[in-house]
Amino acid sequence: MPTPMSVEITRTEKINQLFQAHSLDTQGADRNFVNRFHTSLPKIQGLFQELYGVHEEAESQLIELLRSLILGYQAREESLRERDQEKAAEGNWFLSQNLAGMSLYVDRFAGSLKTMPSKLPHLQDLGVNFLHLMPLFESPQGESDGGYAVSNFRKVDPRFGTLEELIALRKTMHDQGMYLMLDIVLNHTSHLHDWAMKAKAGDQEYQNYYYTYENRWIPNEFEQAMPEIFPESAPGNFTWNEEMKRWVMTVFHNYQWDLNFSNPKVLQAMVETMLFYANLGVDLLRIDAPAFIWKQTGTSCQNLPQAHTLLRLIKQCVQVATPGMALLGEAIVAPKDIMNYFGTGDFVAQECDFAYNATQMALQWDMLASGDTHVMLQAQADILRKPYGTSWITYTRCHDDIGLGYEDASIAHTGKDPYLHRKFLKEYYSYSGDQWMSPARGALFSSNPKTGDARISGTLASLCGLEKALFEGNGAAIEQSIQKILLMQAHSIFLGGLPMLFYGDEVGYTNDYRYQQDPSKSYDNRWMHRPMLDWEKVNRRKTEGTVEFQLFEGTKKLLAIRKSHDLFADLSNVSWMTPHNRHIAGLIRRKGEERRYCLFNFSDQPAGLTWYAFREQGESATQLFDSWTQTSYTVGPDHEHLVLEPYGFRILEPR
Ligand code: GLC
Repeated sequence: MPTPMSVEITRTEKINQLFQAHSLDTQGADRNFVNRFHTSLPKIQGLFQELYGVHEEAESQLIELLRSLILGYQAREESLRERDQEKAAEGNWFLSQNLAGMSLYVDRFAGSLKTMPSKLPHLQDLGVNFLHLMPLFESPQGESDGGYAVSNFRKVDPRFGTLEELIALRKTMHDQGMYLMLDIVLNHTSHLHDWAMKAKAGDQEYQNYYYTYENRWIPNEFEQAMPEIFPESAPGNFTWNEEMKRWVMTVFHNYQWDLNFSNPKVLQAMVETMLFYANLGVDLLRIDAPAFIWKQTGTSCQNLPQAHTLLRLIKQCVQVATPGMALLGEAIVAPKDIMNYFGTGDFVAQECDFAYNATQMALQWDMLASGDTHVMLQAQADILRKPYGTSWITYTRCHDDIGLGYEDASIAHTGKDPYLHRKFLKEYYSYSGDQWMSPARGALFSSNPKTGDARISGTLASLCGLEKALFEGNGAAIEQSIQKILLMQAHSIFLGGLPMLFYGDEVGYTNDYRYQQDPSKSYDNRWMHRPMLDWEKVNRRKTEGTVEFQLFEGTKKLLAIRKSHDLFADLSNVSWMTPHNRHIAGLIRRKGEERRYCLFNFSDQPAGLTWYAFREQGESATQLFDSWTQTSYTVGPDHEHLVLEPYGFRILEPR
């Protein structure tokens, strides 16, 4: 048995040998890398030890992981290294108010990677300079989960184009001051991935890349505490594979095999993949479903401490090899759990740089349906704990469903019954034909009869009433839905974080029901809100008076206002005003003496806010100028009000 001391020495020697074998110029050209390496090494060793200390190949696997970092660094092209340095000099580059994002499917938005550059002017005109391209890597047609079942992490799926075209697009984007975000689907692979194919063929080495079992003993043990993600289309968490004659863990769809990160080889392979993406020029890597990456019987297999250790380790690896790439953890979890993804203890702000503000996203839909801000305000105690130096993706919706996953307690505190309140929201947004008064047109997604849970599908426009209003040819309702859409956009754009629009929303795409005719999609109604753009419709945004024009110009103006002042950067400078009127959400953004009051009326009636609401903030200005309507208001006495029209909003600057 070697003593710990002798392990240390041999490890140091091994690292020196690694440096030599890869011809690192430790005093010269590679000095910065070597410094980063040595700065992070103790953390990498510690985190690795926590996860794999008892693994029989721990020592050699650690060295292999370190080798991957060297190789990832060496593969980085000079221009990207320079970009890394520029970002480091800027410090927290991703907190800037100058970034504004859009998430889109290359094929459904532009046709292909080749035609994508010709569509960039549309985005730039809107004010978008940060693109989340939905999964582009090879994924079997018909069993793709929108690209989230990857069969080859390094080959662009031919239906989008080629890897060369992706790199060319990135270069064009970078040259034009744009940023790129891609996904790494970390939790699982397609069952047609090479590793899964080898596992099916009986190769034990690769069976160990997944959770496979010859009988139901352990699967049954797991199932006792694991919830179901897609209870309608993919019930249960295990699938029998006839070729392998084994059960395999499939938390999402049965064609998505969960990777087993307790095997350090899986970690190494996936770190290499992440560095490969970094070297394609990715600025922000979206880590898909990180809440699920560690499994343990007797637990829900979500948000486990080891999942955080793994993410911290990944962060250190990226920080060493390709430091300009930031990380977004796509954890759609309860408010109290989400904060942990930014890191805790010694690792505060050293885990994921970004997370989705999914709680606030859902709460704005809560406010829109109920006209009441109180549940949203209850949840702020958790949300505002986000550490400095990290940021949110803020959004009204995305390619996924809207989950109502905030705490029951936030609802109960306001005097409402959590069960009945959620029932109301689900009924309000889903359309069952014989619907009551609700203007929304959406559908329930993943209803679970066992738990009563359900989430919501539908485009921003349809959920805001545009589909119904257009169908009925009701001019007043059309205007009101446009107002609601802009209210929702404004709320998420000024909230603090990087706003991520969803393509099509900028011109008011309503639900597309054609997915029902496609057997590869009909089981998943999220496709109703993933439009196929028709550029004739999109170009109507250039014709004054059209719905498309009003929405595009409105969204553009909102983004321009946000870019106009650095107090809209995510400086952890958000607070909420006292809810003098429960219909109005009042957000304050501050920097030094400067402030902006962002007010949102979620009611279908005019709502008044006492002028005292500003005085109580210590506001001494007598004029408040609204950048949205370009109107100046004189601050009146306490018993008078600033009146906001139904679904109206204001971005007020004290003058
Ligand atoms: C993420 C994706 C979602 C996908 C799931 C499984 O939540 O956003 O679209 O179905 O992961 O990969």
